Amino acid sequence: MTSEIILRPATLTDAQVLAQLWMATFPDKFGPILGHKAERVLCDWLRLSERHLQTTTLAEISGAVAGFMVLETPSAPRADDGRWLWHALQLNNGIFGALRGMLLMLLIDNRHPHHQNEIYIEMLGVDPAWRGQGVAHRLIAHAETVAQQQNASKLALAVVRDNLPAIHLYEKMGFTTQSERRSRLLKWITGHSGYYEMAKQI
Ligand SMILES: CC(C)(COP(=O)(O)OP(=O)(O)OC[C@H]1O[C@@H](n2cnc3c(N)ncnc32)[C@H](O)[C@@H]1OP(=O)(O)O)[C@@H](O)C(=O)NCCC(=O)NCCS
Repeated sequence: MTSEIILRPATLTDAQVLAQLWMATFPDKFGPILGHKAERVLCDWLRLSERHLQTTTLAEISGAVAGFMVLETPSAPRADDGRWLWHALQLNNGIFGALRGMLLMLLIDNRHPHHQNEIYIEMLGVDPAWRGQGVAHRLIAHAETVAQQQNASKLALAVVRDNLPAIHLYEKMGFTTQSERRSRLLKWITGHSGYYEMAKQI
C-alpha cells in the first residue's frame, strides 16, 4: 500500500530539493534554456526571488519530497519581472549566457493573463520515482480546495500537446480543452509543438 501523502507549503530551505525536482520533471525545458548549470541556476533563482517558493505546495511521502505544485491565485504574489532569473543566470553562466537564457525564456514564455475568479496551476511535477501513486491527483485535489476557499469559479492550466500522461490525468479529473496554441519557437527550443489550455469549472 502507498504511504500517506502529506502536503505542506514550501520554504526557503526547500530551494535545493525543488530545483532538483524542477530539473527531473521538466528537463526538456530547463536544460536547453538554462545550460549545463541549469539546476544551480534554478536553485539561485528560487532563493533570490522567493515568489515561487511562496506559491509552491510540496507533497511528501515518508519524509521525502515526491512532488510539487505552483499555484497562481488572486491573493498570491504576482510573478516577478525576470530580474531574479537574470541575476541567477549571470551568477552561473556569465553575461552572454544570461542574455541567451533570458531570450530563450522570453521566446517560450507561457505566461497566462491573470483572471480574478480563476486559480491557475502554473507548474505541477512528480519525481519519476514516485509516479503512478496518486501524488499529482492529490495536488490537483488540493488546488480545487484552494479554489473553493477563495471563491474562484475556475481552475486552469496549460500543458504541452504531446504530454499524454498529464493530459489523461487532467481529463480524468474533469478538465476539458479550451483552446490550442501552436508555437514554432517552442518546437525549436524544446521539441514540443504547442500547448493545450485546459480548465475545470469549480
Ligand atoms: C503528469 C504527472 C504530474 C503525473 O503524476 P503522477 O503522480 O504520476 O500522477 P497520479 O499517480 O496522480 O496519476 C493519476 C492519473 O494520471 C494518469 N497517468 C499518470 N501517469 C501516467 C502515464 N505514465 N501514462 C498515462 N497516464 C498516466 C492516469 O490517468 C492516472 O490515473 P490511473 O493510473 O489511476 O488510471 C507526472 O508524470 C510528471 O511529473 N510528469 C512530468 C511533469 C509534467 O508533465 N507535469 C505536468 C505539466 S502540465
